[in-house]
Amino acid sequence: MPSHGSGSSKGAVVRGTWLVSSTAAGVTEPTTFRLHDREWDLLPGVFAPTHCVSTGFFTESLPFPVGGSFLDVGCGAGVTAVSAAAKGCARVAATDISEAAVENTGLNAARHGLADRIELYRGDMFDGLGPEDRFDLVFWNSPFIDPGTADGAAVHAVHDDRRDQLRQAVFDPGYRAHQRYVTEAGARLTAGGRLLLGFSDLGDHGMLRRLAADAGYRITVLRTSGDLVRGVDYQLLELVPHDTAP
Ligand SMILES: C[S@@+](CC[C@H](N)C(=O)[O-])C[C@H]1O[C@@H](n2cnc3c(N)ncnc32)[C@H](O)[C@@H]1O
Repeated sequence: MPSHGSGSSKGAVVRGTWLVSSTAAGVTEPTTFRLHDREWDLLPGVFAPTHCVSTGFFTESLPFPVGGSFLDVGCGAGVTAVSAAAKGCARVAATDISEAAVENTGLNAARHGLADRIELYRGDMFDGLGPEDRFDLVFWNSPFIDPGTADGAAVHAVHDDRRDQLRQAVFDPGYRAHQRYVTEAGARLTAGGRLLLGFSDLGDHGMLRRLAADAGYRITVLRTSGDLVRGVDYQLLELVPHDTAP
């Protein structure tokens, strides 16, 4: 993957900046969208699953543990968490650093009659969870674009609450949140639990591999979207502990 110094490619940063601007400009009031034959609420400042195929692709690709427990990190509008409950996960927890995202997931859980099955938490990564909380599957559709240094000014040019929240949904400067995810998620897994990450070819694979290796994981690709029409390939990755046989 070509890079402009550190972080994702310049094209990735341009695409991420467009995503933030178009969502911020297009969603200024609560609205709704359709995905996977359901209607969903979308609040301003929350990652819009309509602007790219990632939410739909990861949600239909995830191996939800039927009868088991699922943690959706960075739940956004809640499509993945609600779908996990609808598909039979006995326990679903959804957490996000964005207050609007947590509220949005609550709205969609209620809209689909699953509010009593979905626990909502707000916090940076796993901070909102209790110390004993463990899950059979942990997943994050991550903000995989690292703006690096070259385009920092453009990425942060306009400030308002909605844009700042959307930036957090698209950009992870220095992969600091990714580092927390790979180092802390393992302690959130049940015995035999699986750790997955939603990523793409716009992300910095070299950096992710290094962070994962430092945390004791190798990365395997479970499924790719192959979305060559729109020019982005989304990848459902699994972080497998080094000591697990291939
Ligand atoms: C690409 S969006 C995915 C949203 C939703 N899961 C979906 O698929 O539509 C990434 C999400 O991660 C959240 N996020 C970013 N940094 C986070 C952090 N440090 N802790 C928790 N959530 C975070 C963002 O607020 C955003 O909702």
